[in-house]
Amino acid sequence: MTDLFDRIIKDKGPLGKWAKQAEGYYVFPKLEGPISNRMGFNGKKVITWSINDYLGLANHPEVLKADAAAAAEHGMAYPMGARMMSGHTEYHEQLERECAEFVCKEAAYLVNFGYQGMVSAIDALVTKHDVIVYDVDSHACIIDGVRLHHGKRFTFMHNDIESLEKNLERATKVAEANGGGILVISEGVFGMRGEQGKLKEIVALKQKYNFRLLVDDAHGFGTLGKTGAGAGQEQGVQDDIDVYFATFAKSMAGIGAFFAADKEIIQYLQYNMRSQMFAKSLPMAMVKGALKRLDMIRTMPELKEKLWENVTALQSGLREKGFNIGNTNTCVTPIFLEGDIPEAMAMVHDLRENYGVFCSIVVYPVIPKGMILLRLIPTATHTLEDVSESIEAFSAIRSKLEKGIYKRIAAAMM
Ligand SMILES: Cc1ncc(COP(=O)(O)O)c(C=O)c1O
Repeated sequence: MTDLFDRIIKDKGPLGKWAKQAEGYYVFPKLEGPISNRMGFNGKKVITWSINDYLGLANHPEVLKADAAAAAEHGMAYPMGARMMSGHTEYHEQLERECAEFVCKEAAYLVNFGYQGMVSAIDALVTKHDVIVYDVDSHACIIDGVRLHHGKRFTFMHNDIESLEKNLERATKVAEANGGGILVISEGVFGMRGEQGKLKEIVALKQKYNFRLLVDDAHGFGTLGKTGAGAGQEQGVQDDIDVYFATFAKSMAGIGAFFAADKEIIQYLQYNMRSQMFAKSLPMAMVKGALKRLDMIRTMPELKEKLWENVTALQSGLREKGFNIGNTNTCVTPIFLEGDIPEAMAMVHDLRENYGVFCSIVVYPVIPKGMILLRLIPTATHTLEDVSESIEAFSAIRSKLEKGIYKRIAAAMM
């Protein structure tokens, strides 16, 4: 037998083992000052490409005013208790009605956090007789929701409709044998590489197979579709998404999330989602703040237009300079480079310290060994100067990477 803590201290986990080298800089960095296109980091100003404040609402004066007024009126505690017991208000209901209307669904249900909400919704939607079929590249909240499932689950290859169909055939056999149903789960936008989920093709399979579709549209909400209703609206299949999910943590620059679907399904979630039944309700300041943000998204299309001006300038500028930005068809902009982890760290250090550009860095095991992914999130607060200055910086560091300069720096530091 071993002591639990002895094991934990010895084996810090796949990320924790890098803490000494990475903490405070590559992980848990402290971005300072108001949320914007340029923020403080390590004593200097950097262009920030790592904040999901797509529409620039995080620090918008009207949003700050609404948040402060709601907090002054209600504090951060009200309402106390779970929604079902004592934490329900007319504003929670109003926000649900408005979210549902915004994404063209009958009804919506608020949850406190996207991650927990998704885990709990998956848990609530299926029984052990049902089968889940989900994209292998799904966000952790989907993977962890599926982990709670007592029945069969199949993954399909990322955005691969042939693979989905093969797995639907298998799932259909299992569901028929068990007397269960099938839940297919995709993301509206895959947040690492920026590809939209192939919702149109997935929905087309409903002609042949009997399943319900749950879509996590965390990055699509507010950024895609004519009115910002997300990836389903962009692809013309919003009506065919059976359960729609979006978080307030990105375009809405807040906290909380919601599910939207037919009234009866939402009512079922209200009475069966354990993350909400056994947790305190979303505080009023968040709810009123979200109402303000949603109103601004609805009435200020110029925010999305500015966002897309920056997305287009950034993505076309990078492509012109020969960068591999994969198959993104959303705002999320990946830059794929080749190199090992020490090189990647030396490169990002140079990028931040000497070029004043801050973006997220993703390496193995999230992406294949030998690849480096710089992940950029353009927002409505960026300027075209931010875009051109950053593209210059990326070109300079790519050239150093290719010359092996970062390999030498990394080796010298070992
Ligand atoms: C695709 C996706 N789903 C769910 C979540 C979780 O949302 P929240 O931050 O509200 O917990 C995130 C990240 O925020 C996300 O990127």
